[in-house]
Order: sequence, then C-alpha cells, then structure tokens
Amino acid sequence: MTRFDLYAEEALYGPRGFYTQHGTAGTEGGDFITSPETSTLFGACVASYLDQVWHELECPDPFVVVEAGSGPGSLCRDIFLSIQDSHDALRYVMVERSDRQREIAFAQVTATCFADLEEAPVAALKDLPVGPITGVVLANELLDNLPPRVVRKTTEGWLELHVQEGNEAWHPAEQSAATMASAVAPNAPLGATLPLHVKAAVWMNRAMKLLERGRILTFDYGVDSSEALFDRPLGEWLRTYRGHHRAGVPYSEPGTRDITCDVAFDQLPGSPLIRLQADWLASKGIEEMTQWAREQWQDAAASPDSTSVAARQVLDEAAALTSRTGLGAFLVAEWQIGD
Ligand SMILES: C[S@@+](CC[C@H](N)C(=O)[O-])C[C@H]1O[C@@H](n2cnc3c(N)ncnc32)[C@H](O)[C@@H]1O
Repeated sequence: MTRFDLYAEEALYGPRGFYTQHGTAGTEGGDFITSPETSTLFGACVASYLDQVWHELECPDPFVVVEAGSGPGSLCRDIFLSIQDSHDALRYVMVERSDRQREIAFAQVTATCFADLEEAPVAALKDLPVGPITGVVLANELLDNLPPRVVRKTTEGWLELHVQEGNEAWHPAEQSAATMASAVAPNAPLGATLPLHVKAAVWMNRAMKLLERGRILTFDYGVDSSEALFDRPLGEWLRTYRGHHRAGVPYSEPGTRDITCDVAFDQLPGSPLIRLQADWLASKGIEEMTQWAREQWQDAAASPDSTSVAARQVLDEAAALTSRTGLGAFLVAEWQIGD
C-alpha cells in the first residue's frame, strides 16, 4: 500500500517514470498539447510581459528569467525570438527535472536562437538555481504535475487516498493531512474529496525565496478556491493522459501515462493576482499581434492563396490559445515579490 502522492511521484519521475522515459508536450509524438506547443504567439505574449516587468523593475542587468518545468524548451525559444527591450539583459535559466527533456531543450534553443554565438545567455538546470535574483520565475503547466495528497471527508473523519495492488484504497489520514484538510476546506460537506497541494506549496515557497525582486507567473488549469472541487468527482480533476487521450485511472501500470491534477490556487502561499488566460493574452496584445493575419485573410477570403492560408493558421492558433472552453480558461497567477 502506497500513499497516492508517493505513488504518483515515482510513476512520473522515478527511474521508469513517465517523464523520465518518454512523456512530452507537443503535437508530433507528444502526449498532451500545451500553450507553447500550440503557437509561438504564446511566447510572444510572455516576451511582451517580460519587457513590461523589466521596465517596472527599472531595467535590471542581468534580468534573470527562470522557467520551471521547461519541457522541450519551446517557450524559451519563442521568448528569445520575440523579446525586445530586455533582450540584452536577459539571462534565461530553464529548469527541468527530466534529463532527456533538458537535453532536447538546450539543443533546440541554442540551435535556433544562438547558432552564431560562442556563449548563449541560457542555462538548463535540474533544479531551481540559488538566488537571490532580480527577474521572473515562469511555469507553464508545472504545478498540475506536482503530485498532490488526496483526502476525503467521511463520518469517520478524513481519509487519504492510497494505491493498493493497482486499485484505489482509502485509509485514515495522518494527523498532518487531516489538519491541513480542515484548514483549507473548513466547509467541506461529507463526501467531499480534494487535493492537498503540499509539493506545489513547497515549490512556490522556494520560488518566492529565490526572488529578491520580481514576479512569479504561472499558467495552469485549476480553480481559485478548493471549495470549487467539492461537488466534482475525483476522476474529473485528477486525470491521466497518454498520446493526447485520457488514459483511465492512475493506479496501475505506473510510468505509462501522465498524472495531472487541477490546481486549487488558494492552497498556495501569497496572494497572487489571478486572471483567465484569454484575458491575460488580450492584455499582452494578442489581438494586435494577429491584426495583420485578420486583414490578410479578409482581403483574400474569396480566393485564398498560400499566404492567406498561413494567416488563417495564425488566427486558428490565437483562437485555440484564447478559447474559453480550452486553453483560454487556464488560470494565470502572478505573484509580486519585493517592490
Ligand atoms: C506538463 S509538462 C509542461 C512542459 C512545458 N512547460 C510546456 O508547457 O510544454 C511539465 C514538465 O515539468 C517537469 N517537472 C516536473 N516537476 C518539476 C520540478 N520540480 N522542477 C522542474 N521540472 C519539473 C516535467 O518533467 C515536465 O517536463
């Protein structure tokens, strides 16, 4: 019998874990599609945000951007291709736990953005660097991959999810988990099941300590209050994926699929400003960035040529990033650290 978070940790990141062996974002041969893999427009919007923060911080040099859970490096690549004002001061650190993904990312970014330079302003590390730094910590779809503990309120008190011989099993929660559950969900009705984001909270604390001045910006699916999960079945917010499809319950065949959880942002430290990705991208100018494509497509809609078809593709990508029933419904959470 293994506590669920320990089981999922091994299933994702152990020697035979999903991310250790093969799991990756992307359309070609990937297991799930993320915003950076959907369109370079996402990186362009994040680059616009970074330029804005650089000015707000009074143009620090170096301006350090740490991207945690950087996967194959697509966001880093697209940021370097779009960044303007802070370009010369930017030092970028990709942090990726999977050795395989880290190697792919470093090769992709250096080959695409710095082929002519002997030294690139980019590093790839296995864990967060030592601070303090002035800059930004970014994470797209990292928090949902930090396995939660899972508890359920019953007439016998709080029970905790375990994995036993390929099945779910519920056992009395340790005192620490029961105390945390009562603290984050004091109004939970009997039967309510919820994640306890212990690992995500620890990661967020480390990110906050890393920054002397700056911002933490995360993009993820989830809810801003744990209460929003009370009425939802466990299998709806704790999911598995493989090859772009839902992949059943997570309790057997560890290492063969992604295990991911909607993030209850109220369990994380600090007081982030939370917005929908659709609104956040609009505030970073995605409409203006795609105006040329809209005009191109409208002008040639009657008899499209290859240029207008490419413009249509850009508009489709922008629509996917901002769809309020898809990626646009993700939560963008921003923490401000220092002044
Ligand atoms: C869902 S993928 C997202 C990849 C990329 N950010 C994207 O949006 O395409 C999550 C990534 O986070 C990595 N990861 C998980 N825990 C991590 C940690 N503590 N530090 C750094 N990377 C981590 C995984 O190996 C995986 O590559």
